[in-house]
Amino acid sequence: MSRTESSRTGLRGGTALLAALSLSGAACVGAVVATPASAATACTVDYKVQNQWDTGFTTAVTVTNNGSAVNSWNLTWSYSGNQKVTSGWNADISQSGADVTAKNVSYNGTLATGGTASFGFNGTYSGTNTLPTTFKLNGVTCNEDTTPTDPDPGTDPTGRVDNPYAGAKVYVNPEWKAHAAAEPGGSAVADQPTGVWIDRIAAINGANGGMGLRDHLDAALAQKGSNEEVVQLVVYDLPGRDCAALASNGELGPDDIDKYKSDFIDPIAAILADPKYAGLRIVTTIELDSLPNLVTNVSPRATATPNCDTMKANGNYQKGVGYALDKLGDIPNVYNYIDAGHHGWLGWDDNFGPSAELFKTVATSNGAQLSDVHGFIVNTANYSALKEDNFGIDDTVNGVSVRQSKWVDWNRYTDELSYAQAMRDKLVSLGFDQNLGMLIDTSRNGWGGAARPTGPGAKTDVDTYVDGGRYDRRLNTGNWCNQAGAGLGERPQADPAAGIDAYVWMKPPGESDGSSTEIANDEGKGFDRMCDPTYTGNPRNNNHMSGALPDAPLSGHWFSAQFQELLKNAYPPVQ
Ligand code: BGC
Repeated sequence: MSRTESSRTGLRGGTALLAALSLSGAACVGAVVATPASAATACTVDYKVQNQWDTGFTTAVTVTNNGSAVNSWNLTWSYSGNQKVTSGWNADISQSGADVTAKNVSYNGTLATGGTASFGFNGTYSGTNTLPTTFKLNGVTCNEDTTPTDPDPGTDPTGRVDNPYAGAKVYVNPEWKAHAAAEPGGSAVADQPTGVWIDRIAAINGANGGMGLRDHLDAALAQKGSNEEVVQLVVYDLPGRDCAALASNGELGPDDIDKYKSDFIDPIAAILADPKYAGLRIVTTIELDSLPNLVTNVSPRATATPNCDTMKANGNYQKGVGYALDKLGDIPNVYNYIDAGHHGWLGWDDNFGPSAELFKTVATSNGAQLSDVHGFIVNTANYSALKEDNFGIDDTVNGVSVRQSKWVDWNRYTDELSYAQAMRDKLVSLGFDQNLGMLIDTSRNGWGGAARPTGPGAKTDVDTYVDGGRYDRRLNTGNWCNQAGAGLGERPQADPAAGIDAYVWMKPPGESDGSSTEIANDEGKGFDRMCDPTYTGNPRNNNHMSGALPDAPLSGHWFSAQFQELLKNAYPPVQ
């Protein structure tokens, strides 16, 4: 795996402008979009969550009456979660259990045909602030075209659930469990779910005597019992894989797209479609390290690599990902998540928007459709902290923005949670499903242990402030290989924050990112000096030391010293 940042060309200068832009994040975090008015639509409701934080939210509602004129109105809806309306304006709002009624106030009771009324409210919630799906104006259902062929906008015709992790167990990979349990102290985490990497064609049937895909799915059925069960797969064998690095180069050459389709995706799809496995919720994370490289590591940028230029020119990343989304998306119990890098890779303005646009293009070409995409995953196999509590992107020191610190270096985000939520908003604004869910890989971003800062850094200058407070203690956010000082992050969990389906351990902790020295192998893996602790860096990590642990084996192989380091520095600590 490589995680490479990009050139920030074009972002320098214009401090005041940049500071102003950074304040303009007025995001709409969720909305029920009204169907277009038609003769058959009695009323339309636009319900927008304008602002949302851990425990509360603000909503704006506009209702349009398409029927005959009325002198008074009430609008009703129900919540599927524990949302409670606390105060409202321009309507009289009451709530009983999950059911809410908003009545007109004295000055907005009259609604002509085509007339609208707008009101708003604040509310509280915990878990996920799921949008209501059905609204009734004076007892008549809104947003519903009564033409019989029109699908209910709130229902996924395949029967997929909104968040596959909600209320479900997640598959514990017995092979990873055995490694973890054999480590001193490892039994404390050995029952955690981790990703199953299908990282070569041979892995489908089981490489080197290991479990194959059917073995894992059979084991998942056994673990499932009468519960819902998620199985997390990483689909990882693109032609010319990992073009900006060498450590996770794969078996397929840059032009092997046909082989990728016929020998890799087709057999995986055939197994996943077996009715025997229809009761599993199969999460597929599609081709990490691919699409973002086509934005950040191609000419004319200083960070370009010849391999990424080749993959951009031949289009085989897009073709492969599109094909995988299409084939796997046809299976009703498969949930596709695309890799969206991490904040230290795509968090700069010149990477963020273009990446989101590329995801949209790929999800609408080569047979793929937006409905094949359930969500996105960020921080896979990376080390970016989940939440940096000690400094925020809008902070300043002596009038200097945190964005000007050497660490942040004009990035728009300081951590993965804020990045994931913003990327989600951006993707929804481009047309992805409004219920899009994000996954955050927290397998190795804990940054606990004795060196963890306990409060903000001194406000002497912006670098002292940021460096003194940051949890992420890498030498640069572009460092990605076997990072010294890292710890296990948040334990896997469903619904941890707004817009986030789950925190997951997609990269199995203790599996190496790449070898510290060259090791001959038959897996296609190269030696990347970012995994060599003596390496002084390249443009993709702004020429910093690699920060890698010494004596690492090939990527994917068990690295006991790293597992011990992750246990020692876990945050939250491992009890
Ligand atoms: C390797 C894969 C491995 C995965 C999980 C990647 O860096 O290239 O072979 O399965 O990590 O450890």
